[in-house]
Amino acid sequence: RIWRATVLTLFPEMFPGPLGVSLAGRALASGLWELEARDIRASATDRHRSVDDTPAGGGPGMVLRADVLAAAIDAAGIGPDRPKLLMSPRGRPLTQARVVELAEGPGPLIVCGRFEGVDQRVIDGRGLEEVSIGDYVLSGGEIAALALIDACVRLLPGVMGKEASGTEESFSEGLLEYPQYTRPQLFEGVPIPEILTSGDHAKVAAWRRAESEALTAARRPDLWARIPSKVPSDVPKRR
Ligand code: ADE
Repeated sequence: RIWRATVLTLFPEMFPGPLGVSLAGRALASGLWELEARDIRASATDRHRSVDDTPAGGGPGMVLRADVLAAAIDAAGIGPDRPKLLMSPRGRPLTQARVVELAEGPGPLIVCGRFEGVDQRVIDGRGLEEVSIGDYVLSGGEIAALALIDACVRLLPGVMGKEASGTEESFSEGLLEYPQYTRPQLFEGVPIPEILTSGDHAKVAAWRRAESEALTAARRPDLWARIPSKVPSDVPKRR
C-alpha cells in the first residue's frame, strides 16, 4: 500500500502547500505517496458549526472541542496500524529516528492543533502522540505537520535519487554536516580548501570528519556529548 498522510485541520487549504512543489510535489503527482487533508469543521454538529469553546476553569483563548475532534478522528477511519499524532509545542521533540520509523510505516494521522489547545480527553481517549518540531510556538500545527511530512516523504523509496541518501549519514551518526564548496574555485578572494581539490580521497574524508566534529562540538554540545568513543578532553579544533 501507498504511504499516506491523513491530516485533520481547520485549514485544509494549507495542504499540500509547499509539499505540492519540488521533490515532494513531483512524488505526490506520480503517486509515490498520498495526502488527505480533512476539515475538522465538517464534524461540527451545532447550527453554528462551532469547533472550539472557552477553557474550563477560565483563562485566555479557546480550546478545540472534544466531541468535534473525536468525531473527526473517528470519521477518518484510521486503522490500528497507523500512528496517531498531534502536533503540539508540548510534544516530544521530533527526531530523525522517529521520522525514519514514520516513513517506514503506513503513514500517520496528524491532528493539527489550534487555539490554546485541544481537550485532553481526546488526546487520552484516542491515544494521540504529541509531537513538537522545536522549542518555539507556531500559530497552529499545520506548518509543523508540513515539516514532519516533508521529512518523511524524502525518505520514501523512489522519491529521492540515491545522491542525498548519503547526506543522511553524518546526521544519523549524530554529527552536523561538514562545509560544502563548488565552483568557482576562487570566490571574492576566498579559495576552496586545498584538500578538497587534491584528489586524495582519504584526506578529504578525514578533513570532512574533523570539520563535522568541530562544528558539532561548537554548536551542539548536546549532540557532541552523545558521540561514543569521545573522551571529554578530546575537543576538536576550529570553528
Ligand atoms: N504547534 C505550535 N507550535 C508547534 C511546535 N513547535 N511543534 C509542533 N506543533 C506546534
